[in-house]
Amino acid sequence: MPEPLFRYNWAEGGTDPCEPAAAERTLTAVMNALRVQELVKLYGRGEKTVRAVDGVSFSVAPGELVGLLGANGAGKTTIIKIICGLLLPTSGEAEVYGVSAADKRVARYVAAVLEGSRNVYWRLSVEENLRFFAGLVGQSPRAARAHIQELVSLMGLTEKRRTVANKLSQGMKQKLAIACALVRNTSVLLLDEPTLGLDVETSYDVRGLIRELAEREGRTVLLSSHDMGVVEAVCRRVIIISQGEVVTDDQVASLLSVFRTRALRVALSGGLDDQALGRVKEEFPGVRVSEGSESPSLEVELEVGQTLYQLIDVLRTCGVGVEEIARVEPRLEEVFLRVVRGENGASKAEPRTGTVS
Ligand SMILES: Nc1ncnc2c1ncn2[C@@H]1O[C@H](COP(=O)(O)OP(=O)(O)OP(=O)(O)O)[C@@H](O)[C@H]1O
Ligand SMILES: [Mg+2]
Repeated sequence: MPEPLFRYNWAEGGTDPCEPAAAERTLTAVMNALRVQELVKLYGRGEKTVRAVDGVSFSVAPGELVGLLGANGAGKTTIIKIICGLLLPTSGEAEVYGVSAADKRVARYVAAVLEGSRNVYWRLSVEENLRFFAGLVGQSPRAARAHIQELVSLMGLTEKRRTVANKLSQGMKQKLAIACALVRNTSVLLLDEPTLGLDVETSYDVRGLIRELAEREGRTVLLSSHDMGVVEAVCRRVIIISQGEVVTDDQVASLLSVFRTRALRVALSGGLDDQALGRVKEEFPGVRVSEGSESPSLEVELEVGQTLYQLIDVLRTCGVGVEEIARVEPRLEEVFLRVVRGENGASKAEPRTGTVS
């Protein structure tokens, strides 16, 4: 195992590690596996310049599993490529354990699955790819054999282990890309759309695996995905990017709770005629009616100042009986849409630099 990066960092400067600036750098490096600060990335020049990343700041503590969400073109892949040293930022900083992402030593600590399984060698077989990546971090073929077999079998690639990557199906290439990232045993994993193209079963296996890597092995994972099921199942915290900027950086549970408190599903014991529906809509304009197999139910989002009792009163006045009232459990997908549309008071996140959540 190589020397930890953060220890190297303060010794390297030749300064007294107890000197306040050096001590602060060391502390920041220990507390943050990843840290990006005021990151900006422009592509192209002149009128054709694209501001892909526009002042993004966040940090990820060691062992944290964080989702990076955003619409197409929001800047996720660009951020991930900067953190793994494939791209240089136009300005700002990206650090892994306190060392600049542009420093080649960082490669020993970070493994990435990039969009389109681009991290595998297409002319090498499945096993050759895995042996190559294990060799990069100094694992001998013998030492790596058991791990490689385990990963090949986990990804359902045993039959294809001698097939060149180029001849694998899209989903199989993706599985190989994940296996190649995992075989290096790095403490930081950057996963850009890791479950794209995977069948349902493998996608579930990969979710479990990612969770295990963080929970049991303490690895730090930054995961970008459009599959909210994966993000919700795996991440405790999400950073939502919109047009190159962080719009939200929060725990999944607290984001969901913002929406949970106000949305209700009311199962009715009988029918709901047009007149009654009209009355309900007067007071609760956003009400939605869904026709159940026996009787309809209402979905209502209470606005500020409205209470459940007002709704029950209106229904009672119209002679409509209530069978059951339940909170509508929001999904991350809905929260994401609302945040990127700037609904529900969602505002731009305060930059979270140098802190551990
Ligand atoms: N090599 C490039 N040259 C010019 N513009 C680029 C390049 N790569 C990305 N961009 C632009 O930068 C912006 C951010 O792209 P990026 O790939 O980071 O988004 P993303 O969030 O990963 O999107 P997706 O969800 O579609 O993968 C987009 O407007 C994109 O067109
Ligand atoms: Mg992308």
